[in-house]
Amino acid sequence: MIVVHTLAACRAERQKLGRLAFIPTMGALHPGHLSLFATARKHAPHVAVSLFVNPTQFGPTEDFTKYPRPIETDLALCEAAGVDLVFNPSPEEMYRPGTPDLVVDVPGLTSILEGKHRLGHFKGVCLIVTKLFNIIRPDAALFGQKDFQQLRILTAMVEALDLPVEMVSCPTLRDADGLAMSSRNRYLSAEDRVRALSITRGLFAAEAEFKRGITQTNRLIATIQKPILEQHVNIDYVAAVDPVTLKNIEVVTGPTVLAVAARVGKTRLIDNLVIA
Ligand code: PAF
Repeated sequence: MIVVHTLAACRAERQKLGRLAFIPTMGALHPGHLSLFATARKHAPHVAVSLFVNPTQFGPTEDFTKYPRPIETDLALCEAAGVDLVFNPSPEEMYRPGTPDLVVDVPGLTSILEGKHRLGHFKGVCLIVTKLFNIIRPDAALFGQKDFQQLRILTAMVEALDLPVEMVSCPTLRDADGLAMSSRNRYLSAEDRVRALSITRGLFAAEAEFKRGITQTNRLIATIQKPILEQHVNIDYVAAVDPVTLKNIEVVTGPTVLAVAARVGKTRLIDNLVIA
């Protein structure tokens, strides 16, 4: 496995590889990431991973400085997973002083849901992913469905910019208790974790209700909210949206994303389930 820290070295090493599948990450790898690495192999003979906590996607009051950076463990996990190339730049390498400002945005999709609660977040994600795609020039890129809005926005961005990257969407991995895997789960105390599981319970209860024939989303949303509120978890939003337009849906007639964002203590969690 080759580990590089500069754009020049990354470009040089990438040139030596043929068809390449790429997984951008902020590190703090968990089994969800490892499942993306394994799926990547099915899309290309070579796999590249970036480990970069991207400052431009964090708001001023968010957890950028305390975001976990277990670089040695992350590198060992990449190596064990058979990753060929790891790009681990510094913030100064990715955002060199004097570089012109650039905004990459998909306005119709970035200002709603997460975008309402994390101002500027998706502009930061779009910018870093565009830069990473330009440096690594992957043939395929893999993203988890847990961040379904991110995946939808990046897919739209790739389409609008005519980027020659196949976007691969991978299912959310859950721990045995049902909690969606996330690097931020490591902030949760045992007690927080019990409270966080109300999000999972709410989503699966709504899915069960839908399977019993309830299609009005106000009923499904109330079902999701109930266990969360009982645990005194602060809800940012619970929504039922179209997977392509991300617009609210009133009655389920086709694939619908049930999405939740909530704060358990200081930890902000998101999760979703697609019902159809
Ligand atoms: O999903 C993430 O971890 C990040 O948003 C990404 C795509 C690596 C961009 O920094």
